[in-house]
Amino acid sequence: MVEGTDWAARYRSGDTPWDLGGPHPELLVRLQDERLVPPRPGAAALVPGAGAGHDALALARRGWAVTAVDLVEALAPRVGPDLEREGGRFVVGDALEFEAEDAFDLVWDHTFFCAIPPERREAWGRRVAALLAPGGVYAALVFPVGKPASEGGPPFGMEETHVREVLGPLFRVDECGPVSRSVPRRSWREHWLGATRIASEAH
Ligand SMILES: C[S@@+](CC[C@H](N)C(=O)[O-])C[C@H]1O[C@@H](n2cnc3c(N)ncnc32)[C@H](O)[C@@H]1O
Repeated sequence: MVEGTDWAARYRSGDTPWDLGGPHPELLVRLQDERLVPPRPGAAALVPGAGAGHDALALARRGWAVTAVDLVEALAPRVGPDLEREGGRFVVGDALEFEAEDAFDLVWDHTFFCAIPPERREAWGRRVAALLAPGGVYAALVFPVGKPASEGGPPFGMEETHVREVLGPLFRVDECGPVSRSVPRRSWREHWLGATRIASEAH
């Protein structure tokens, strides 16, 4: 289990400033212009730390077979039924310990990486490598870019280099840079990182 932040309490009290009330605009535009569409029918996407499920639902509506994972049990009845109607599922649990029989084609990380304590990032990198099929993509909304580590978290500061480090040599970074559609109310910069799982062995 993750210690430090009581995520369930944050949702109970409605203290969820990360919740955009809809999908991230950059994700939406990439689903619409087909940069992030399923490579084949039934292609599977994992959404760790899915929260209220806006992104998960948008991915499912675009044809991804979505598995959304979040620690907070109370989100299951809020998110699960809508997702199931679109062919997806919501799993309550720790994404860093999540295992699945079949490999995923996409991991979509929107303010998940920056929510996990930095000392657990390496474990997340190993999990991603194990969960993604060769050729699968790790797409991350990198945020909050430029936030000093001394300010603590969550969200903990996050730069592309941090993601590159934890993904390691099993991934090729294809894209990395500022998003074209950022969230105006966010006070730190947002970047997009896309990396492809290149090797077949898990580490
Ligand atoms: C900052 S919020 C982002 C939520 C969602 N991705 C969004 O953009 O609205 C981080 C989410 O990750 C969840 N979370 C934190 N640590 C987790 C873990 N180890 N496994 C699964 N979910 C986790 C929290 O409950 C919370 O919903």
